[in-house]
Amino acid sequence: MSILPLTIFLFFTSFVSSASVQTLNLKHHHHHHHRLQSDDVVKSHTFINPKLPPITYTDSKKNEGSSELVNLRYHMGPVLSSPINIYLIWYGKWTPSQQLIIKDFILSISTTNHRAAAHPSVTDWWKTVTLYTDQTNANISANILIAGEYSDQKYTHGTHLTRLTIQDVIATSVQSAPFPVDHKNGVYLVLTSSDVTVQDFCRAVCGFHYFTFASKVGYTLPYAWVGNSGKQCPEVCAYPFAVPGYMGSGGPGSLAPPNGDVGVDGMISVIGHELAELASNPLVNAWYAGEDPTAPTEIGDLCEGLYGSGGGGGYIGQVMKDASGRTFNMNGRRGRRFMVQWIWSPVLKACSGPNALD
Ligand SMILES: *[C@@H]1O[C@H](CO)[C@@H](O)[C@H](O)[C@H]1NC(C)=O
Repeated sequence: MSILPLTIFLFFTSFVSSASVQTLNLKHHHHHHHRLQSDDVVKSHTFINPKLPPITYTDSKKNEGSSELVNLRYHMGPVLSSPINIYLIWYGKWTPSQQLIIKDFILSISTTNHRAAAHPSVTDWWKTVTLYTDQTNANISANILIAGEYSDQKYTHGTHLTRLTIQDVIATSVQSAPFPVDHKNGVYLVLTSSDVTVQDFCRAVCGFHYFTFASKVGYTLPYAWVGNSGKQCPEVCAYPFAVPGYMGSGGPGSLAPPNGDVGVDGMISVIGHELAELASNPLVNAWYAGEDPTAPTEIGDLCEGLYGSGGGGGYIGQVMKDASGRTFNMNGRRGRRFMVQWIWSPVLKACSGPNALD
């Protein structure tokens, strides 16, 4: 979403007072992916399709539903069809292990620097995004790298940011050599630590994307912001690793995060959502549904809360659970696993993901 937000939607219309988990007990063996995969990947796992308490908060406008589904249109603007250079801006205090989870996810999209992970993979997940094209029939690029990183551990613009002061954070970072202004292929991703509050965070948004203003940053650069909700609202923005109705993270009904960090594992799906939308609607004039460009419904919005086949009506869809109970729906580099929402496919005219049963 652009100006508008990763709105917390109401995919879960039926209220369930306690969580129930359907375990299908299917064993899945990776017979065909044995070469050089980590032990982790070769291990069998079970499939589950949990029904969870609904997200209680919603910014309703987005959820009117299916009429918008048929209305996803191309509005003639550019998509990110050149190789995508991501510049990470770490705002606040981040541990190296948190940073590594996020970087491993981003670097799992493209396989230029590493062997493809076992199916279903993050690389396969991005293939739905590359189905989008611009007027010249150029597809969104599958070539994504982390081109630079900047850390602001001093909270230079305070511990509360607004939509506009996030642009000041970007301005400060691009003024700091050697962190460049990359007008050609650059995308700026501002990540705020769990102690930073952001306008509308937790109430209406978990992340958003937009572009910078020349008056603020000196250039028009596509960017996204995603916050670590771990301390502020995991039941909203790190769902389903925390679910409403329980204190803090965890608790009965919530699912165990694949990398053991509720806030950061929750951010991964939001980062995926925002990158998919940034790539398909970087200047908010390319791919979106709805007639109002100030409140576009984009390719991630259409599938929020859906992680596998058989989702909807309170179910998140069929995902995997490993031997130690951690849930995931796709594999990444270095044996990492992630849980990432599905994306709307312009070919299938439906939400689609690498772990679809077909
Ligand atoms: C490019 O997009 C078209 C139209 O959706 C699709 O048929 C084609 O497979 C895409 N190519 C790649 C490499 O994703």
